[in-house]
Amino acid sequence: MLSNSNNELISRVGPGTSMGNLLRRFWVPALLEEEIAEPDSPPVRLRLFGEDLVAFKDSDGEVGILDEHCRHRQVSLYFGRNEECGLRCVYHGWKFDVQGNCVDMPSEPNPSKSLMAKAKLQAYPTALRGGVVWVYMGPADKMPQLPAFEWSNLPPMHRIATKRKQHNNWAQAVEGGIDSAHISYLHSKIDPDHPVNEGLPGRGQGGDRHPVFDVRDVDYGLLIAARRDLDAANYYYRITQFLLPFYTMIPGPVRKAPDEDIYYGGHAWVPIDDDSTWTWSFGVRAGRPFTEKEHAFMGGKDGYWGPVDDEYNSLHKAENDYLMDRDVQAVGNYTGIRGIPNQDAAVQESMGSIVDRSRELLGHSDTAIIKLIQMAQDLEKGIEPAAPHYGEWYNVRSVSVNLERDTDWVEGAKPYFPGTAMKVAAE
Ligand code: FES
Ligand SMILES: [Fe+2]
Repeated sequence: MLSNSNNELISRVGPGTSMGNLLRRFWVPALLEEEIAEPDSPPVRLRLFGEDLVAFKDSDGEVGILDEHCRHRQVSLYFGRNEECGLRCVYHGWKFDVQGNCVDMPSEPNPSKSLMAKAKLQAYPTALRGGVVWVYMGPADKMPQLPAFEWSNLPPMHRIATKRKQHNNWAQAVEGGIDSAHISYLHSKIDPDHPVNEGLPGRGQGGDRHPVFDVRDVDYGLLIAARRDLDAANYYYRITQFLLPFYTMIPGPVRKAPDEDIYYGGHAWVPIDDDSTWTWSFGVRAGRPFTEKEHAFMGGKDGYWGPVDDEYNSLHKAENDYLMDRDVQAVGNYTGIRGIPNQDAAVQESMGSIVDRSRELLGHSDTAIIKLIQMAQDLEKGIEPAAPHYGEWYNVRSVSVNLERDTDWVEGAKPYFPGTAMKVAAE
């Protein structure tokens, strides 16, 4: 059980907080490139870790993420004009480049160098990778590496990135992602052929509702096996990862051979502030591109991770009980709510925006939370986290696989993992 002070520590992410400082040591997904697709396209608002920001792509295709408020009179630069390599405030025309430098101050006839320097806005380094704009909001002298997720280096038709807003603290969403036991209930089907289950992966093998967990502490986070009984000779393993500080991996359908169609997904839960979170979802097809139909289903605003509106708010929300249908709950799926992401949001938001962990009875999924608390406390003492500086650690895959009962799962699953995953796990 976690104490109230730890509950406070894990939840608070604003500037100067322990957890906020830790999370700011990493590159984080900030927005989809589609939101600012073209040079000189309109700027967008962005709130991350309790900071109000504005993002834009300049005439040269460089992305700027700046403090939202103009240094002159604090007007929102969301209303700004994105023109000729800078964002110009509409109030008196001060103009800022992607580094936050004030490059024009038309309201001042002869601005001194020191006034121009003082007018510099807070700007954060950005990077474009995998259709995502990444941002680094930590100290300049602690610049990390970008996480080398497989999807982030694949061509567009091999990958999908989506986001949706969730109205609860980031940490309880992370826990939900790690807690693989819930798929046997929350996401289970009553009649797999019912229309509510259309487009979802096959019947699955989650029938054994008593998974046995084996959690390995690894450099990038945790490697987690959920073992279920399959038949007299075999177990069904669902092997997932938690990667620091807020990523999880989701395996696709059971694979029979390492070179069989490689399909898996992942999440990132990026704090908007203490009470709300961007839920990112990623899809990967490493062996072949997605078909147009698959890509539209998994990636579109109306698709699997939606439906969402133009601001990436889910149309299934607390105010409408996530469009739950009691008749569907009786005969179709376990919740009566359409779509796995909506089912997750319903349970996680219903816990309250910041769940009181001192009242919970926790299971193994708190391992990740305890690890994060430890790292935040270490950082307070000046011990820097290692993971931000090893981008390659993030090049891992999750997998569902059936293995003979007497096979060691780490050995048995090894051929299904590329890169560093198993090397790290074996240490
Ligand atoms: S408030 Fe932005 S230029 Fe004056
Ligand atoms: Fe879930």
